Amino acid sequence: MHERILNESSRTEIKQGITMRDDQLFDLSVGYASFKNPVALAPMAGITDAEFAKKTAQAAGLIVIGGYNLDYETNEAAKRMSERGRKEFITEEPMELLESELEKLRDLESAIAVNVRAVSAEDYMQAALIVRKHNAILELDAHCRQPEITDLGAGEELVHDPDRLKNLIQRIKMTGVVLSVKVRANVVENTHLARMIEESGADILHFDAMGTYGADLRALRDVRDATNLFLIGNNSIRDLESAKEMYGRGADMISVARGVLENPELVNELAIATTALQRQTGWYNAPKHLCGGGDLRALTFCCLPVKHCAVHDALKKIGMTPKEFVELKINFVNGTPLQYGDGTCFGSMAWCCKASKPCFLRDSVLDTIGLSHIEYTELKKRMAEYILAKRKSKPLR
Ligand SMILES: Cc1cc2nc3c(=O)[nH]c(=O)nc-3n(C[C@H](O)[C@H](O)[C@H](O)COP(=O)(O)O)c2cc1C
Ligand code: SF4
Ligand code: SF4
Repeated sequence: MHERILNESSRTEIKQGITMRDDQLFDLSVGYASFKNPVALAPMAGITDAEFAKKTAQAAGLIVIGGYNLDYETNEAAKRMSERGRKEFITEEPMELLESELEKLRDLESAIAVNVRAVSAEDYMQAALIVRKHNAILELDAHCRQPEITDLGAGEELVHDPDRLKNLIQRIKMTGVVLSVKVRANVVENTHLARMIEESGADILHFDAMGTYGADLRALRDVRDATNLFLIGNNSIRDLESAKEMYGRGADMISVARGVLENPELVNELAIATTALQRQTGWYNAPKHLCGGGDLRALTFCCLPVKHCAVHDALKKIGMTPKEFVELKINFVNGTPLQYGDGTCFGSMAWCCKASKPCFLRDSVLDTIGLSHIEYTELKKRMAEYILAKRKSKPLR
């Protein structure tokens, strides 16, 4: 088997997916918004305006400015917050401020999102129309937990009132804007919240995975497995290693707030490092193995399901029996280079581990058939998509 070298057409097909120019390296878009890479500046009220973004995040795939207060009530609340020492953006002309901030950023190659708080749906909708006109994203702040804001029924209070949040999302989406919803983990049940936000029609979930000790990566993973929303993972990212922890749990993008205050180059550095990671591996957010805490995409790296391990719970979540899983993987690899694997643990690379896990058995097969790690990873990525496209039930928890 191993002496068979890849035929030219399958080699060309795989290569088309990976030998891309830098501007095509990531296939990241949501509606009319597209992102040059999966690294974002996260919003910090009173700090992240257009000027700050230009100084710190020119290389970012997404810049989230704000949070801006859209009405009299939230601006008055912000005044009271600033009196007790918080930085806030305060204005008597909120819509004009949005216009001028977006205008200042029009020449950047990064996508722009505007994080906002308001009391009434009408103000969110007016802001959405302005943002839409600039091909930017509106981000609904369902995250702020300052009492001056939550007392108005805005910010985090929205996640405690799902009917209102749902109605708000639906009305904002009527404007045609690409909508992100920013929430904090573990305020209410995470996966129910994520599913509700998805079902209401939002496009992006910006998930502050705040846990008791830094980022709650399990919460991020569970949310990934519960929705198809474009997922931005956020909290405590200070370097590529912490970013990779979130990529490995299914974050499509990561964002950074406080880290930029400590290191103003952090967002740019992460954008460059993630771009290099994508070029080196072909799958910047490849999942960790399931038994290492990865999300359901990691089924692509799972062994033949013959022992007691995490694969069985994962299969239950997607409503598939081990037998069906075996048939599905075999069916996928047939006719692809992954069908080979004499000498590997289970006789086919259908069952082989992530390329980053050193293994001379797999690598000697790859050498023999002339398949690089990137090409191998690209096929595993396609297999992950195939498995999840065939899942029979959507996990809720
Ligand atoms: C000073 C400050 C202001 C913030 N303002 C906002 C805001 O207006 N809207 C919002 O959604 N999140 C806001 N956040 C939350 C951040 O966007 C982010 O979710 C949180 O800080 C965790 O990410 P980090 O660990 O990278 O800082 C703020 C955070 C800080 C530190
Ligand atoms: S099948 Fe293998 S990779 Fe998957 S969870 Fe079990 S031991 Fe880990
Ligand atoms: S041969 Fe290596 S890569 Fe393949 S399943 Fe065994 S340990 Fe994993």
